[in-house]
Amino acid sequence: SEHELEQRIREAKAVLGDRVVVLGHFYQREEVVVHADYVGDSFQLAGAARSHPEAEAIVFCGVHFMAETADLLSRPDQAVILPNLAAGCSMADMASIDEVEECWEQLGELYGDLSQPDADGLLPVVPVTYMNSSAAIKGFVGRNGGIVCTSSNARTVLEWAFARGRRVLFFPDQHLGRNTAKAMGVPLDRMPLWNPRRAWGGNDRDELAGARVILWHGFCSVHRRFTVEQIDRARAEHPGVRVIVHPECPMDVVDAADEAGSTEYIRTAIAAATEPTTFAVGTEINLVQRLAAQYPQHEIFCLDPVVCPCSTMYRIHPGYLAWVLDELVAGRTPNRIQVPRDVADPARVALERMLAARP
Ligand code: 13P
Ligand code: SF4
Repeated sequence: SEHELEQRIREAKAVLGDRVVVLGHFYQREEVVVHADYVGDSFQLAGAARSHPEAEAIVFCGVHFMAETADLLSRPDQAVILPNLAAGCSMADMASIDEVEECWEQLGELYGDLSQPDADGLLPVVPVTYMNSSAAIKGFVGRNGGIVCTSSNARTVLEWAFARGRRVLFFPDQHLGRNTAKAMGVPLDRMPLWNPRRAWGGNDRDELAGARVILWHGFCSVHRRFTVEQIDRARAEHPGVRVIVHPECPMDVVDAADEAGSTEYIRTAIAAATEPTTFAVGTEINLVQRLAAQYPQHEIFCLDPVVCPCSTMYRIHPGYLAWVLDELVAGRTPNRIQVPRDVADPARVALERMLAARP
């Protein structure tokens, strides 16, 4: 039963003590989050993975790319464990290393040798990948002068990239890329969309010649469900409502909202509100429901009336958490995520550039 599982997890954690640290993303279900030593957004959890050198194992309750990142940033002999190996991310899967390399080759034909800075010292294209991508993609970015971003530092990272290159190739999430670049003043007609299934990404060469940000054709299946109609309805039914959405939402939704920001931004905005406020939130339901329970002085609801959890985050069932902890107690290391050396070295370069980037 649920109660027995909870007991099993508590007992295993008590036996393991400081030998194990459990990290949980904001989108994890409540029955998992209660056992996490740290709960946060993907940027915070990357930091948490770095700051626990004493732990033998990091149990990552989140999705595969986050566990890979934790492996890249933790000590080499620390084991990073993903309780269910089927917890992937459909957005991360939208940029395969083969497709990105193929795109890079075509951009090289168009813009010239991509490894050579021009007379002003600027590279033709700087690749920027959202954290929500495989380690192989992060390795590609690291090898080619690029950098990683999360939804909480996308603007800072784009500024870093614009200081080094004429253009940015941004992947996998077109919405985070478009929303961030638009807020920085990049015109929409200078942000062509790259569809990996079409020649030249589905663009003509003139469009690409004038590009400032080339947006990869990826999206989050949870956040793309939010609509302007939902925002209009929330405003009609709740006068004075504050609408906050995640920047993985489509541009028209971000434009219609009062604010947009990462999961940690959303949490902080609600925590900082001094007057009782109604919040309509456009992000994953587990975070919205947790905030509603934590801040009963406010009315907090999800913009989407049809409950929409991230189906892959949801694959971390407490049963899997109990299983991996029991295995650790027994001296085994199941479901270990280990990025191979040849990928890990350049991927770490791209992550370290992110951690060092300043506006
Ligand atoms: P953040 O944790 O950066 O807000 O990203 C949300 C998300 O979609 C994670 O998969
Ligand atoms: Fe991927 Fe979206 Fe789920 Fe985040 S919420 S893990 S981006 S599918």
